Amino acid sequence: MGYDIRTYGDPVLATVAATVDNIDGKIVRLADSMLQAMYRAPGLGLAAPQIGVQKQVFVYDVEDEPTVLVNPIIVESSGEWIYDEGCLSIPGLYVEMVRPKEVLLRGLDLDGNEVEIEADELLARLFQHELDHLNGVLMFDRMTEDQRKRALAEYRKLQDDAVPLGESRRIGLD
Ligand code: NI
Repeated sequence: MGYDIRTYGDPVLATVAATVDNIDGKIVRLADSMLQAMYRAPGLGLAAPQIGVQKQVFVYDVEDEPTVLVNPIIVESSGEWIYDEGCLSIPGLYVEMVRPKEVLLRGLDLDGNEVEIEADELLARLFQHELDHLNGVLMFDRMTEDQRKRALAEYRKLQDDAVPLGESRRIGLD
């Protein structure tokens, strides 16, 4: 039981998610379902649109500390970092992408308190990747025309080969 993770081509992944006005029981249950789906995948993070919910919520767990962020924004970013980025919504595809190395993220926790998190490298990348999902942006949208063509061809091939997602699978961001 639970939510299926939406994959590339699903219009919900190309939609800007709505701001959460009221952190009520529904949002708490949504966060719980998202964490379950994330651990099951498994991934390090998950954004609400990935289970078909158009709300500004994402969850992550990179150091055994499940965390939920509501209405997150990146307020500062700096540096550059190269990382072989993956996405649960584009299963099997990993593409080297350059993005800022450090970010400062601001959002709300489930109690409605404002939180600020400084992140570097992997966590900073995860934040940027999840923020993209909340804005309807996928990795393909961040690529040059050439990169996109190659990545799409590789992704289609992965799907044609229908490689089962077994234990050999790498863990991407989400
Ligand atoms: Ni993703």
